[in-house]
Amino acid sequence: MKGLDFVWEEVKVELDKDSYDILIGPGVLTNVGEDLKNKFPASSYFIISDSNVSDILGEDLLNILKSEGLNTYLLSFPAGEASKNMDTVVSLARDMVKKGADRKSLVLALGGGVTGDIAAFLASIYMRGIRCIQLPTSLLAQVDSSVGGKTGVDIPEGKNLLGTFFQPKRVYCDIGTLASLPRDEFINGMAEVVKYGMIMSRELFEILEGNYPEILNLEPELICKIVTQSCSIKADVVSKDEKEGGLRRILNFGHTVGHAIEAASDYTISHGCAVSIGMVVVSRLAIIKGMFSEDEFIRLKNLLDNLGLPTKVPANSDTKTLIELLYHDKKTIAGKINFVLCPEIGRCFVTDKIDVKEVEEAIDSCR
Ligand code: GLY
Repeated sequence: MKGLDFVWEEVKVELDKDSYDILIGPGVLTNVGEDLKNKFPASSYFIISDSNVSDILGEDLLNILKSEGLNTYLLSFPAGEASKNMDTVVSLARDMVKKGADRKSLVLALGGGVTGDIAAFLASIYMRGIRCIQLPTSLLAQVDSSVGGKTGVDIPEGKNLLGTFFQPKRVYCDIGTLASLPRDEFINGMAEVVKYGMIMSRELFEILEGNYPEILNLEPELICKIVTQSCSIKADVVSKDEKEGGLRRILNFGHTVGHAIEAASDYTISHGCAVSIGMVVVSRLAIIKGMFSEDEFIRLKNLLDNLGLPTKVPANSDTKTLIELLYHDKKTIAGKINFVLCPEIGRCFVTDKIDVKEVEEAIDSCR
């Protein structure tokens, strides 16, 4: 498929009748109108985005779709994780009803991870489920949250505690949108890209190691390559284990400890930064278990440092609090924590045979 200057990359998520394509490249959004009209006819299209994205990209997308003659509405909600709740979902649903949304309408989730989670959750329950297409605009959403069908909102008791598995019909990743993001947000997303290299692809890890200055300069061909490789890895894992019965857990490399670090900081540490520290801690844990080499550990730390990601457990998160939070994570089953460990860069396995003392030692040695 042709974009403006380049051929768009295509990655398929194979899920029988729920299979879908991820299209990646620059200029994808400006060319989306015709594709939607031909491939996803709908009675109406509802672009859902937050207050930041709505003013810039939302209005543009609305005009693009209207110029194709598509009956399109733009709905927005206040930007930020605080909006990721049932009140936002109900308020958007009520707006959709007022504007005549029916079972043949289509939701277009335009934005970062919060928008994708809210909009897809809404689509999954609106009139018992209407189609949803993801248009992720942040790196984190492009390489992770828009792919794989996890949707959800938070409740005071915890993040993502209400949600569904609901696959999008298509994902359009316009890498051109990354340039409009705050730099910290881009760096945040790079933690997930490093994760894919660590768990499944030494080749991807080495591309990052060898090209981080160009990546940080958003060199389009390289960005396209790393987004495509990340999406391919995620697509492959999700195709084999859609509902996280087993294999999909490997996508949580660095996340178990990362979630505890995020929570201990009262969410002042971003997800990507917390995952970066989490990857360092579990890699230290793998060394303690005699399963990972010091040389590869140093390569991981250097790469994260070079990308501007943190690698030390924050001084104000004490080990006892982190351990308590780890054992309260929603993924902790019967007091057993599943850790994803890498025996080398590019390979991983899941184990719950870890003693809490070893986790404490790993956390303490990453300060
Ligand atoms: N972000 C992890 C997953 O989608 O399973």
